[in-house]
Amino acid sequence: MADPLRGVVACVFDAYGTLFDFSAVAEECRAALGERAGAFIAAWRGKQLQTSWLLAAQGRHRDFWTVTGDALDHALAAFEIDSAELRERLMARYLTLPAFPDAPAALRELKQRGQRLAILSNGTPAMLESLVKAAGLGELFEAVLSVEEVGAFKPHPKVYQLALDRLRLPAEAISFQSSNAWDAYAASAFGMKVVWCNRSGQRPERLPGAPDRTIRSLAELPGLIAV
Ligand code: LAC
Repeated sequence: MADPLRGVVACVFDAYGTLFDFSAVAEECRAALGERAGAFIAAWRGKQLQTSWLLAAQGRHRDFWTVTGDALDHALAAFEIDSAELRERLMARYLTLPAFPDAPAALRELKQRGQRLAILSNGTPAMLESLVKAAGLGELFEAVLSVEEVGAFKPHPKVYQLALDRLRLPAEAISFQSSNAWDAYAASAFGMKVVWCNRSGQRPERLPGAPDRTIRSLAELPGLIAV
């Protein structure tokens, strides 16, 4: 079989769930939520994503910081927690989420192999800058691209087009990596090469697009990209 990633010169990464681990907020809410912490984080993330999809479908936009805060308020209300202090702590933690342990080494290896690296995320420029800086990954990325530049959330095609425009590359020269299956499928339907980093063993989506490769950890990625 021909190598589907042949000809790739740039690797573009989703941020939340792919490079940065939002489940790290669990430490902050353990005291208030105990064993419900995991369900709470899933509710927060779920509402954050639903809101972003609905805004994209309506052709409306609010920045991701606002959407993330509103989704947190919704989750806190659903779990009957009234704590401005916890809200503040969780939002602050969202700005310093750790990189997944496999991410830094994979990024460095790809860079050494001559790949151009970028982030393409729903996050605001300030949110993304904070994450990249906190994880010490700043020097690796040629571009940290926020949907704020196009005023629409993923999976609007305008978002994937932004990577092509800013990197000045055709879609097939870019490998897009996301752990969010819906994001991976949308980028594939758009025309990019796609590696789905299926960290949690999700079932395949029934959506347009088809990831070219599926991996469980970013540690597998450099081996897939031909030198
Ligand atoms: C992002 C979300 C989708 O970083 O994880 O764009």
